[in-house]
Amino acid sequence: MSFQLALPDYTDPDFFPQLAAQAGALLAGEGDEIANAANISSLLFNALPDINWAGFYFLRESQLVLGPFQGLPACVRIKMGQGVCGTAADTGQTQLVPDVHAFPGHIACDAASRSEIVVPLFRDGQVMGVLDVDSPTPGRFTQRDQAGLESLARLFEGSVAG
Ligand code: SME
Repeated sequence: MSFQLALPDYTDPDFFPQLAAQAGALLAGEGDEIANAANISSLLFNALPDINWAGFYFLRESQLVLGPFQGLPACVRIKMGQGVCGTAADTGQTQLVPDVHAFPGHIACDAASRSEIVVPLFRDGQVMGVLDVDSPTPGRFTQRDQAGLESLARLFEGSVAG
């Protein structure tokens, strides 16, 4: 397979639909969780401006374990309910955190991170992991980012289902 990616422009109102189309093409016909998480991490890290980390944690028994990502090395295991990732996994709800310093229990993997969004991932109605994106800028993530990242999360889930 060969392809070239022309990353969409974040200022374009169609940025997330275009990114979803690219993600769909990358995931098409592939069901491997690691491969697909790796490509989604790369796509996000390269397409989203002003971020310093993008990647996955997967639920293994009762802990989140680091999966494919782009950015600085990160903590490997996170307990359910701990930090932003553990809260997203525990509640099954996206955590949009404008100021990580104000989030009780936030886990600082990269000291530069100032805001964060974590989207839970589901398989058969159960949380299977999270998609995490960090930014060095406070208040970086918007409702538009949340909706766009949740759409990508649904695409990822669909690609690894079955
Ligand atoms: N900040 C996260 C930990 C993961 S790193 O940001 C990659 C948290 O509080 O769960």
